[in-house]
Amino acid sequence: MKYYIVTYGCQMNVHESEKLAAICEKMGYCLAEKREEADLIVFNTCAIREGAEDRVFGNVGALKKLKKQRPSLIVAVCGCATQKESTANWMMKTFPFVDIVIGTFNLANFQHYVNAVKTGRQLELLSEGEIDETLPYKRTSGENAWVNIMQGCNNFCTYCIVPYVRGREKSRQEANILKEIEEIVAEGKYKKITLLGQNVNSYGKDLTPSVSFAQLLQDICAIEGDFVVSFMTSHPKDLTDDVIDVIAKQDKICKDIHLPAQSGNNRILQLMNRRYTREKYLGIIEKIRSKIPNARLTSDFIVGFPTETEDEFLDTMSLVEQVRFDGIFAFMYSPREGTVASKMQDQVPQEIKQRRVNMLLALEKKIQEGKK
Ligand code: 5AD
Ligand code: SF4
Repeated sequence: MKYYIVTYGCQMNVHESEKLAAICEKMGYCLAEKREEADLIVFNTCAIREGAEDRVFGNVGALKKLKKQRPSLIVAVCGCATQKESTANWMMKTFPFVDIVIGTFNLANFQHYVNAVKTGRQLELLSEGEIDETLPYKRTSGENAWVNIMQGCNNFCTYCIVPYVRGREKSRQEANILKEIEEIVAEGKYKKITLLGQNVNSYGKDLTPSVSFAQLLQDICAIEGDFVVSFMTSHPKDLTDDVIDVIAKQDKICKDIHLPAQSGNNRILQLMNRRYTREKYLGIIEKIRSKIPNARLTSDFIVGFPTETEDEFLDTMSLVEQVRFDGIFAFMYSPREGTVASKMQDQVPQEIKQRRVNMLLALEKKIQEGKK
């Protein structure tokens, strides 16, 4: 019996697919080289933008033929897209050959749903869940080991679906994180450890007693061994001086810092509920550059947020030019059902979003080529 997992979206999903892989192997399945050979196919989905969801739907739909040829094939869909009730129900209705639809909070019980398929199709969505500490991972990212430190997000940036599909911030106990990293280091196979969370800078605020992200980093660096630590994703409003100081001081911490700005315009930043200004963002960048001269800075931007004018977009262009990032990701704003921004008046037309994203990426390319 063979399994095949198709993963969409961020590193968190990649890491959760490592958990799914471990569950599949515990059930006696082994890894199929391609999906045509598999007896169990799992889609671990992403909902961050419409494009990501459309790709999922297209690829799940394409399985219809395979399932017809081999009715014993089990098809499961899980992750952020199906955590939304409307999408989960739509999937069940549109794709009768899909056997299991679950969300982000019941993934650890995957084995249960596979076993229960004998009795009928499985649809279950929970609204919150604890971080599962009991299941192992089948690590699949070469010399890099992902370590989840927290899940969820409390920020409610107005464009973002994450708080709705991943719930509120929940940090793992520091002792469990340190133990996991000690084990990873002891294995000797991994050179890099990447800490994962939607908002790593708020790590530990919900623990009693609370632990700061800076403290966690210090304690990780105190683990003996030859490894580097990296982390994602940071929120500019929570990136404190003590975190910058630890990064500067500790040789074990990788100097790549991904700090999504989203926009260079204060009115748009406020509408996005980012809770910092352009000036505050630039101040953090300056601090990072002065304390960590070899920092490699990257960022995310959204263009065409509802009501964004051409001048406001040009503020994003000027921020990118001013900071001279080592790399950026630029996205066209994509309305996500249920978020505040999706209900705002004056959505920006698609062709304007497309032009703006092209302009921003062209600017970044020129900066990289040293032509700007
Ligand atoms: N539309 C476009 N981009 C988005 N992002 C998050 N939500 C949306 C959306 N609705 C981008 C942000 C974030 C990155 C992971 O995805 O830039 O930092
Ligand atoms: Fe989404 Fe904002 Fe939370 Fe990031 S910080 S996951 S963009 S709500």
